[in-house]
Amino acid sequence: MSRTRPALDDALVAVTGAARGIGLATARAFVDAGACVALGDLDGELAARAAATLGARATGHQLDVTDKESFASFLGAAETSHGRALDVLVNNAGIMPNAAFLDQDERTDRQTMDVNVHGVIHGMRLALPGMVERRRGAVVNVASLAGKFPLQGLAVYNASKYAVVGLTAATRLEVAASGVHVGAVLPSAVRTELSSGIDLGVLPTVDPEDIAGAVVRSVLTGRGEIAVPGYVGLAVAAAPLVPERVLGIVRRLARDDAAISRVDDDVRRVYLDRVRAQGESRG
Ligand SMILES: NC(=O)c1ccc[n+]([C@@H]2O[C@H](COP(=O)([O-])OP(=O)(O)OC[C@H]3O[C@@H](n4cnc5c(N)ncnc54)[C@H](O)[C@@H]3O)[C@@H](O)[C@H]2O)c1
Repeated sequence: MSRTRPALDDALVAVTGAARGIGLATARAFVDAGACVALGDLDGELAARAAATLGARATGHQLDVTDKESFASFLGAAETSHGRALDVLVNNAGIMPNAAFLDQDERTDRQTMDVNVHGVIHGMRLALPGMVERRRGAVVNVASLAGKFPLQGLAVYNASKYAVVGLTAATRLEVAASGVHVGAVLPSAVRTELSSGIDLGVLPTVDPEDIAGAVVRSVLTGRGEIAVPGYVGLAVAAAPLVPERVLGIVRRLARDDAAISRVDDDVRRVYLDRVRAQGESRG
């Protein structure tokens, strides 16, 4: 069955992790496209303040994506506030603790998988049944090119994003006949707090607005995966064909261990302290 292309005018879009960074830029892009947007974030006050900057068609809500009840309340509040059923869910909330695998503690491992993987699963389990029943709607998961390309210092983050890429692709197949879109956007490095303090050197870096544009494009075109920038996506797709020894040389030249060896600890600590505090507040 062909997909029902969603009109964004007055559509209801829910964005997780929307108080800052890519989520906030995505919320703004959907408002600019004529949609109503519910911004959910662990930091509910910041989400409310962010929504206030976007005008009357945006609302801010407290949300913990790792807690299915909290996620259900968020989607319920979004539908009640805007008076219509959910059209688009953007699973964007994510964290990126960085450390050599052997130095990272298990609590951080679990927090990373909880937010980055189970948070997305919760959102899909809650949003998809209604969309499939209405035979319209879209879920866009903000994964990462780290879901296709391993990087030193990000092993568990890599694992979480590989999981989201697989989850998205398989679910997309399952709901295709209903006309509902499930897709992933795969950013390279983006200038947000999440990557702050890591000197990415020659690795291509983009702005949150570039990713926001790709999320909107995912909904409008129904493409299964969109890498940003596209040429990095092509390079990542070709990497498995390159002999490991040659790839190793390229990796060394590109300083692919930046998340371990090229870290400004003072700058990075601000982000890592926020993530740790958010993990502790969830218990
Ligand atoms: N910045 C990058 O370089 C980059 C690259 C590739 C992919 N991504 C992905 O993009 C997404 C957004 O990242 P960002 O760079 O905007 O990060 P960010 O840290 O700037 O913003 C993430 C937001 O998610 C919120 N959040 C964290 N845990 C949450 C939870 N349990 N429930 C609800 N909200 C929660 C945070 O409070 C924060 O406001 C993430 O999934 C990330 O993995 C980022």
